[in-house]
Amino acid sequence: MNIIGPDYLVFGVDNVDDCVQYLIDYGLKLREQDQSGAFLEALDGTGVLVRVRHDPRLPAAMETANTLRETVYGVADEDTLQAIEAELRKDREVIRGEDGVLRAVDDMGFALGFQITQRRALELAGETSQAPYAAPARPINALGASNDIAALPRSLSHVVYFVPDQAKAEAFYLRLGFVCTDRFVDTGPFLRPAGTLDHHTLFLIQTPPFMKGIEHFTFHMGGPTEVMIAGTRFVEKGYESFWGPGRHQLGSNWFWYFNSPMGCHVEYDADMDQHDDSWSARVAAPGADNSQYFLFHHQQKWAPGGPPPKH
Ligand SMILES: [Fe+2]
Repeated sequence: MNIIGPDYLVFGVDNVDDCVQYLIDYGLKLREQDQSGAFLEALDGTGVLVRVRHDPRLPAAMETANTLRETVYGVADEDTLQAIEAELRKDREVIRGEDGVLRAVDDMGFALGFQITQRRALELAGETSQAPYAAPARPINALGASNDIAALPRSLSHVVYFVPDQAKAEAFYLRLGFVCTDRFVDTGPFLRPAGTLDHHTLFLIQTPPFMKGIEHFTFHMGGPTEVMIAGTRFVEKGYESFWGPGRHQLGSNWFWYFNSPMGCHVEYDADMDQHDDSWSARVAAPGADNSQYFLFHHQQKWAPGGPPPKH
């Protein structure tokens, strides 16, 4: 089943205006808006749909405080949609909506959608870095960093769920062709579907049942400098850093997480490892030592010394 990754996430919230402003400040672009909410997108058209909590168009809410109402995956083709439908009809209701989205609910109660992906294919250069004895990574006189860098989210990377039974939750996604790339013992797996090489598009974390719901979601940036620039601009707009910047161990992705008005964390990431079926999943103990190679803390801009004041 050629599932590529999440195309968009759907939230039901009380404070739509706060969430829309947050996502614009994060770097997404407003694509559609009505009285009930808005769709905001990254450069490739993946994005976030925010609606008021009681909007009847939203899938049912969970019994917990979770605000994520649906995860809509992009798939490569109609054959994949039909394969998903055939697999899920074995033991649950599957609905093909008027919007062409195939809908079902996973074994933990997360509402899912599947559509032929609406990602726009982009041709963008990745961030580069020069290294001694390596061929030049960018043209001579081209700058590696600049205040002019837009540092905009490029593509929806991954979503993380708190689940009460990570083994059962994982088993469901294996039926859809996801594979485990790496795993934290007794915590949960990093999963990637067949249509991407990204280390993970879904990470599951075992928690008590009352915590069930989304923990965070993330968009890919063009490189670590873009994570730093976008995160710094976000801090300067008044948003609260939660964790980062730093670099994860499993996946190697640079990260910077922020608190959000959506009741979950929101991350920037960059330079995630890619894997194919020749990769053997690693198993690591959960904890701070295995969660990052290093962790920084944002500081206000500063410079040393300087000349004495003129009188
Ligand atoms: Fe993440």
